[in-house]
Amino acid sequence: MNRDPFDLTDRAALVTGAGRGIGRAIARGLGERGAGVVVAEIESARGERTAADFCEAGVDARFVRTDVTDSASVESAFDFGVERFGAVDIVVNNAGMSQRTPAETYSDEDLDRIIRLNVHGVFYGMRAAARRWIAAKRGGKIINLASFAGVVADPLSAPYAATKGAVVQLTKTCAVEWAPHGIQVNAIGPGYTRTPMTEPALGDPASRAAALAKTPLGRVAEPEDLVGAAIFLASSASDYVTGHVLMVDGGWTAA
Ligand SMILES: NC(=O)c1ccc[n+]([C@@H]2O[C@H](COP(=O)([O-])OP(=O)(O)OC[C@H]3O[C@@H](n4cnc5c(N)ncnc54)[C@H](O)[C@@H]3O)[C@@H](O)[C@H]2O)c1
Repeated sequence: MNRDPFDLTDRAALVTGAGRGIGRAIARGLGERGAGVVVAEIESARGERTAADFCEAGVDARFVRTDVTDSASVESAFDFGVERFGAVDIVVNNAGMSQRTPAETYSDEDLDRIIRLNVHGVFYGMRAAARRWIAAKRGGKIINLASFAGVVADPLSAPYAATKGAVVQLTKTCAVEWAPHGIQVNAIGPGYTRTPMTEPALGDPASRAAALAKTPLGRVAEPEDLVGAAIFLASSASDYVTGHVLMVDGGWTAA
């Protein structure tokens, strides 16, 4: 019998920021398809609890405390995954933050902070994987979390939008650069998704209404809405897909 193209048995995935929100849903979804999961999370209690919950649900998961803004921490998280699972085949660069502030009042410190997490953090994850995969002469799958805000305007989020635009370009450029090595690089572009990150915006009736007005499907996403795209991009179903930003945004960027 042919292998199910979405099957992830015998693969291992490292997911950054997997302790809650979108990262947690994606990590669990990959695990339920058979992948071993490295929960690479900065908040130890959150990461440990997540890995324990996954194991209880039958997913082979391990937590490793990881700060994606520190390249050494990302490198050792990858090595931890190799040690535990024999290899890391899939890297999901999910950890990120948003901040809604009028651009003219954005502070220097906040600008540095969001760029370090959303751009350096993603690049460190991509580089750690590619370095090792190229040296080992093997391919792999990188999935970055971009956003609708990486391709269209999102007022009050200028630095955030800039970081997500950077993620789109890291995705496309490295997809082409690393294609000869069999490394695929794709991104997911979520629309507004109900997570702790968006609680303040979605809790405010006016900004919630504004988000819904921009979403043809007429609802915000749940983290589980992102899982199918992640399984597709992590599995052999997407073996001929690279440099793609898969929008999972309820139609926001199509309108
Ligand atoms: N929620 C949305 O509406 C939405 C929309 C578009 C894109 N995204 C993107 O999806 C990703 C996940 O968003 P979310 O809403 O689930 O966020 P979240 O804030 O709910 O979860 C982020 C997780 O990352 C962890 N984290 C933070 N800094 C870290 C670091 N330095 N190292 C490792 N882990 C760290 C946090 O502890 C947390 O567990 C982000 O990149 C975000 O920009 C989210």
